[in-house]
Amino acid sequence: PRNTRRGDAGALVVAGLDVRDIAAEFGTPVYVLDEDDLRSRCRDFRAAFPNEDVYYAGKAFLCRAVVRMIAEEGMFLDVCSGGELAVALAGGMPPERIGFHGNNKSVAELRRALDAGVGRIIVDSFAEIDRLTALARERGVRPRVLLRVTVGVEAHTHEFIATAHEDQKFGFSLAGGAAITAALRILDEDVLELRGLHSHIGSQIFDTSGFEVSARRVLTLQAQIRDARGVELPELDLGGGFGIAYTTQDNPSTPEELAKRLRKIVDSECAAERLAVPHLSIEPGRAIVGPAVFTLYEVGTVKSVLIGTGNDPADGRRAYVSVDGGMSDNIRTALYDASYSATLASRASVAEPVLARVVGKHCESGDIVVKDEFLPADVQPGDLVAVPGTGAYCRSMASNYNHVPRPPVVAVRNGQARLIVRRETEEDLLALDVE
Ligand code: LLP
Repeated sequence: PRNTRRGDAGALVVAGLDVRDIAAEFGTPVYVLDEDDLRSRCRDFRAAFPNEDVYYAGKAFLCRAVVRMIAEEGMFLDVCSGGELAVALAGGMPPERIGFHGNNKSVAELRRALDAGVGRIIVDSFAEIDRLTALARERGVRPRVLLRVTVGVEAHTHEFIATAHEDQKFGFSLAGGAAITAALRILDEDVLELRGLHSHIGSQIFDTSGFEVSARRVLTLQAQIRDARGVELPELDLGGGFGIAYTTQDNPSTPEELAKRLRKIVDSECAAERLAVPHLSIEPGRAIVGPAVFTLYEVGTVKSVLIGTGNDPADGRRAYVSVDGGMSDNIRTALYDASYSATLASRASVAEPVLARVVGKHCESGDIVVKDEFLPADVQPGDLVAVPGTGAYCRSMASNYNHVPRPPVVAVRNGQARLIVRRETEEDLLALDVE
């Protein structure tokens, strides 16, 4: 996070608080959210996209307190389930600033979204057009919808988080004409108001050429719709997916750079197609909350393990530093082969750095939080280790594997720490067993 430094005895200090005090008060593992960092990232995006709507993608991390923060910062909010919608409303997000996503929204979810008056419903299938039409008639409302378009872009990211190539579940394909058919059908439906097109090509993307190709292709569709029906859709949502730096190897674009590039391609494509420039929106999740959080763990055991057979002089050793959480609070390393870094947080050390792997307490060898990191050779039980960049898709994808209760989230600001999501307890877990 932005507001970290090293304080007394080399311990990490965030927003004026020593991590040792945070650990003493809230226990470990704990997700520590630097609130000013989160807010400043909202402001950076809003400043770079002043005439656009910036939807925070709530799937990255959502709780009532964060909804309040982003609402105060003038953000919009993307939700993709009834549960996320419930948190958004409970946190006080004005419904007209909510966009409701999902490839398989249930009738109950759609009804709830209509009754709440969400601002946009992002329609994802023909079946959904039918459901929504019937519900809108039943409720006597005329929802504003965007059409999720599959633009056929191969985003350079992990296969599980790329979403715009043809062979996957989201949206209406351009290829084969599903997208234009869907758009015309919605336009013919008097109870639905088609506001625009939507595309999202994937997540943790650094190469902005994917966004450019995608913008070009949706605007070509926009021109086809105009040619077919004489209407120009007033809005265009280019989705999220902007990459962040997990390690020093990553080099993300700033919001200003993104804004400049996206606007340039939209402007030139609109000029080429003789279209009015639509009102733009984007949906960053990771780029807002990812860097604002670190996970604080306590070291339990440390083992030095031989790499290889030990017969080769080049064979080295690796320190396995076990912490009190693991794949239940950060599944991303195991699931996406994601890279993180780690740092000794409770003190300084002059010991030589050794190759280390930060692992969890779960019953499988894939339970790795940080694959490769150099940590001081004297890391020992009781030390605190911080893993930065865990704001996005860590707490929100956390599990209770091995009946490990999920960690709390503590927001820190101006020397004050406040619990915004409490730690789960064993009683919470047992409470689900009915016999
Ligand atoms: N908009 C839509 C329609 C999305 O599906 C997503 C992410 C976003 C926006 C936000 O993407 P972001 O800016 O956060 O990259 N669990 C995976 C990421 C899945 C992303 C799903 N959709 C991970 O841990 O990397």
